[in-house]
Amino acid sequence: LVGRDAVSVAEYMQSDDCRKVFVMLGAGVSTSAGIPDFRSPGTGLYHNLAKLNLPYPEAVFEINYFRNNPLPFYTLARELYPGKFRPTPTHTFVKLLADHKLLDTCFTQNIDTLERQANVPGHRIVEAHGSFADQHCIECHRPFDGQRLRAAIEKSQVAHCDKCKGLVKPDIVFFGESLPALFHQTVPKLREADLLIVIGTSLKVNPFAALTGFVPDDCPRVLINMERAGDIGRRADDVVLLGRCDDVVRELGAALGWADELEREWAKTD
Ligand code: APR
Repeated sequence: LVGRDAVSVAEYMQSDDCRKVFVMLGAGVSTSAGIPDFRSPGTGLYHNLAKLNLPYPEAVFEINYFRNNPLPFYTLARELYPGKFRPTPTHTFVKLLADHKLLDTCFTQNIDTLERQANVPGHRIVEAHGSFADQHCIECHRPFDGQRLRAAIEKSQVAHCDKCKGLVKPDIVFFGESLPALFHQTVPKLREADLLIVIGTSLKVNPFAALTGFVPDDCPRVLINMERAGDIGRRADDVVLLGRCDDVVRELGAALGWADELEREWAKTD
């Protein structure tokens, strides 16, 4: 890169050297959609879950806690169920990367499916922490009907497997559970990356956070976040663009000549 700023990143993105862009998303990209992130002081979900008298916030995503008390997760799921939120300009920016034939893969930690709702091509999305798309019994893994579970969650009536009476949950990856096979199958592709863009994540949860180390040493890594995260900034071609992601992607979009297109495409998500 000629510099470590948005204009230099845009210049590189428009060069022939930049063909395969990989994106990593976290909860920070959905906060402007009205979905709180997890760890921001005061507003993060883990701060607000305290009222559910959990032993500690992360328990809401732990299988053993869920087994003895599924209701805190039901409360959280009611707030997060897809369909209530609009994608952000940042989600639309990822879609533009695909429209401009630059996006190889978008790895997301988010379960809100806003990438799909922003029309990022499905085959370019890896939902590393699962999503609400499917649901199974946590004991016998028998599939469960999505509408039935959504209705049960809306009414806080605990749903049980028809076969073994075990508890049912959406295929959200809980702490201690393995990530989807697609995640592990897609990780090796990062070795072909020409650019990595990391947006709205504290990079505190593995194995997702470790993805940043898989790209080649000469692959620029761009962090767009309110605060520094992970080891981005250590390598010669790392670029740290601190600020609200919607503002930064608009600056990057303008430098790419995509300003009008970004607003036009985002308007379609309303
Ligand atoms: N613009 C830019 N950055 C933002 C914005 C914003 N509008 N809002 C929040 N952020 C930043 C925060 O400063 C923080 O660094 O986004 C990051 C969000 O970090 P977390 O709340 O830790 O969320 P995330 O990194 O996605 O958490 C990872 O933890 O509990 C697990 O499975 C859960 O997927 C989640 C994982």
